[in-house]
Amino acid sequence: MHLAGVVPFIFLLLLLGCSARPLYPLPSRRNDKSKQPIQTFRPFNIAHRGSNGEIPEETAAAYMRAIEEGADFIETDILASKDGVLICFHDVTLDNTTDIAEHKEFASRKRTYEVQGVNVTGYFVVDFTLQELKSLRVKQRYPFRDQQYNGKFSIITFEEFISIALDAPRVVGIYPEMKNPVFINQRVKWSSGKRFEDKFVETLKKYGYKGSYLSKQWLKQPAFIQSFAPTSLVYVSNQTDLPKIFLIDDVTMPTQDTNQSYWEITSDSYLDFIKDYVVGIGPWKDTVIPVANNYLQTPTDLVARAHARDLQVHPYTYQHPYTYQNENQFLHFNFSEDPYNEYNYWINKVGVDGLFTDFTGSLHNFQEWTSPLSPDDEDASKLLKKIALMISEFSKT
Ligand SMILES: *[C@@H]1O[C@H](CO)[C@@H](O)[C@H](O)[C@H]1NC(C)=O
Ligand SMILES: *[C@@H]1O[C@H](CO)[C@@H](O)[C@H](O)[C@H]1NC(C)=O
Ligand SMILES: *[C@@H]1O[C@H](CO)[C@@H](O)[C@H](O)[C@H]1NC(C)=O
Ligand SMILES: *[C@@H]1O[C@H](CO)[C@@H](O)[C@H](O)[C@H]1NC(C)=O
Ligand SMILES: *[C@@H]1O[C@H](CO)[C@@H](O)[C@H](O)[C@H]1NC(C)=O
Repeated sequence: MHLAGVVPFIFLLLLLGCSARPLYPLPSRRNDKSKQPIQTFRPFNIAHRGSNGEIPEETAAAYMRAIEEGADFIETDILASKDGVLICFHDVTLDNTTDIAEHKEFASRKRTYEVQGVNVTGYFVVDFTLQELKSLRVKQRYPFRDQQYNGKFSIITFEEFISIALDAPRVVGIYPEMKNPVFINQRVKWSSGKRFEDKFVETLKKYGYKGSYLSKQWLKQPAFIQSFAPTSLVYVSNQTDLPKIFLIDDVTMPTQDTNQSYWEITSDSYLDFIKDYVVGIGPWKDTVIPVANNYLQTPTDLVARAHARDLQVHPYTYQHPYTYQNENQFLHFNFSEDPYNEYNYWINKVGVDGLFTDFTGSLHNFQEWTSPLSPDDEDASKLLKKIALMISEFSKT
């Protein structure tokens, strides 16, 4: 790219950026001189289950790849093993993302349980001890993605996940979900009557995660706690002041704990209630802007109503690939098959505050092109003043 073309483009974006609602106050100072701090001036790049578009989801390799590619946060789903160990895994069953089918020794473990009102048959995570889970290998969920890493990586624990974030060469946040808390609390029991949510917060505390959004402690070890279950978010609000994100599902899905509809939980009165417990919402992006025949329809006012309450909006999931092999089903036709158009639309038009993406690298590239991190001039207005000064000096001569 020729610099001559890039500079006016960046300048234009800076100007646009200035007139828009400021997304985040800049950190007043750097907390850890030895590590590059987390950026807080542009929407967060949230690596959904790691860089799972490339490497099987929720594995150490997927999280490490996401960190290399520029993730602000590595995102994970927390479930529990039969012996009560918290692990990083998305589905309550092992069938779709591990080699469980090849493990004849576990053939008799197949069960049918009711999960969120639906009978599901498969091999359930909660019926395996950590040691047994560690003997399995993870595989790619989607047949149209790279299969070369199947069978190479094992399931990791929540603690192992945390150590990946803490070992990163710069400050990388974590974004763990209390996944299926109703089901986990039914099936897994801890000593002294502890609940899944208690173990979840205990783990975060054990590794020093604490502090409200943008506090000094938080900037050192940033974390967002997420859940689809409002009861769990309210429950942990007494145990930690870490920022929480309320996830919002498809319009057809009731909440797993309170059986509320999408319409109830996105009403003004409910947002007024939940804003005392969370700093933002994490809606499915098709509920923010409904889709028909793969075309975007009229956007809802959910983002505006959330922002009016000072709630951030982190939609999920941006799933397009670097290449276009059969993933167009995820990319709405409005974006002309170009994932950068989609990022541009959601960041600059819809004005979201964070994006869950399967392709951290592509989001990072987009943000670096349009809103770059500059170690000396993080403050865009400072840079603008400099440019204005330069222009005025030129006009004098
Ligand atoms: C699940 O299966 C059990 C046992 O067959 C049955 O009693 C229950 O009603 C089923 N639940 C649903 C939601 O279909
Ligand atoms: C595996 O994935 C398919 C497609 O999403 C789903 O219908 C099925 O229920 C999953 N199997 C299990 C056991 O979870
Ligand atoms: C949180 O703590 C307050 C004060 O101790 C108590 O009144 C409230 O019931 C607690 N809430 C939950 C959800 O545990
Ligand atoms: C959940 O709510 C729906 C709609 O109000 C109702 O039909 C259903 O019986 C409720 N389910 C439970 C388990 O309460
Ligand atoms: C997406 O494209 C369709 C078809 O051209 C159009 O009707 C719709 O308004 C577009 N949506 C947005 C949000 O631009």
